[in-house]
Amino acid sequence: MSPTEGGEIRHERTGLVFRPGLEGVPATQSSICDIDGQKGLLSYRGYPVDVLASHCSFLETTYLLIWGELPNPQQLRDFEQEVQMHRRVSFRVRDMMKCFPSDGHPMDALQSSAASLGLFYSRRAIDDPQYIYDAVVRLIAKIPTMVAAFQLIRKGQDPIQPRDDLAYSANFLYMLMEREPDPLASRIFDRCLILHAEHSLNASTFSARVTASTLTDPYAVVASAVGTLAGPLHGGANEDVLAMLDEIGTADRAADYLDAAIASKRKVMGFGHREYRVKDPRAVILQALAEELFARFGHDEMYDVARALEAAAERRLGPKGIFPNVDFYSGLVYRKLGIPRDLFTPVFAIARVAGWLAHWREQLGANRIFRPSQIYTGCSMRQWSPLEDRLPSAST
Ligand code: CMC
Repeated sequence: MSPTEGGEIRHERTGLVFRPGLEGVPATQSSICDIDGQKGLLSYRGYPVDVLASHCSFLETTYLLIWGELPNPQQLRDFEQEVQMHRRVSFRVRDMMKCFPSDGHPMDALQSSAASLGLFYSRRAIDDPQYIYDAVVRLIAKIPTMVAAFQLIRKGQDPIQPRDDLAYSANFLYMLMEREPDPLASRIFDRCLILHAEHSLNASTFSARVTASTLTDPYAVVASAVGTLAGPLHGGANEDVLAMLDEIGTADRAADYLDAAIASKRKVMGFGHREYRVKDPRAVILQALAEELFARFGHDEMYDVARALEAAAERRLGPKGIFPNVDFYSGLVYRKLGIPRDLFTPVFAIARVAGWLAHWREQLGANRIFRPSQIYTGCSMRQWSPLEDRLPSAST
């Protein structure tokens, strides 16, 4: 094995080159999302994300991501209506959720309940456009209901039913908070969903595509992606950002915190991205949304801590191309909306299911099962010995 430039490792016998984390290795072709990490540009199906977040709804964006074109008024009405009709989840899923430990993480509850949908809907016609449409509608419709249901169940309450007169985002906030949300809060939440809906071949989407490539059902595809999103290096970072801001406490302590983190080689949560060398364009919009919320509903002092940390990080980490990512300001927005901290990542999943399903559909359109190779680093052929002759090995 010989290390080459850029962290690559070349296997001498086979000549294969391994790039840790598959950095810079294309693993698929896709027409869904494009990122220019040098300029900080992000587009879905050719539309800049800021334009979509300003002018479209989350369901309109979902339609675009999955079917490739923005819907016309009739298509959007039909899609919204179908989603609205499928928001309810079976009492059997709710009963199953009542058996989950109430102190379990809501991402684990979501992964299990998303997977359970596969028990209810057959996967026989995986390549049938109607099956694909129905699965998309069900998953987009039911994931928010399941997130809200677990929140009430773990508080010892019965989940409340979706309200047909409320649009997608307003209905989720209603099911979660048990009161009709302010229209500005609903609109800002909807924009957050648009910003989180898709981001090319990130870890959870890669996971979704690998799972999809086996031709399993879309509920397993989404469940595998939810499990991947949960990790602190991916979607779980939004929760950790607030824990970090809590730990810093006040804005005047941000620079010292950063110095200590860098000195001890600790990652600063909500900073850095494999694709971006500038501030994540979604962080720019989320910061503006946070300010809009503070102007309307009152300031949050944690925002001062975040801004002080960003300023200090610009000096220390900026030269390395490390800037705030999507998770840095999203938690502050969700906190102001009244969303509990451990639901930040499930909320990310509500949005990202749109991207996962777009990739599921694209993968099915030109499928070949993923089966990469590896560079074997273990022992060469060894002599087997009978149980009674074996000595304790150094590793046990
Ligand atoms: N704080 C301090 N140093 C950092 C950070 C950070 N957040 N991110 C990267 N670095 C440094 C890292 O120490 C390394 O330095 P050196 O070359 O001196 O050893 C260099 O930058 C490259 O880091 P890496 O971990 O190899 O980069 P990566 O592309 O493998 O990882 C990342 C990307 C997002 C996992 C990483 O930046 C990170 O762990 N960030 C903190 C967690 C986080 O905010 N995750 C959310 C990611 S965005 C949304 C999402 O995907 O869900």
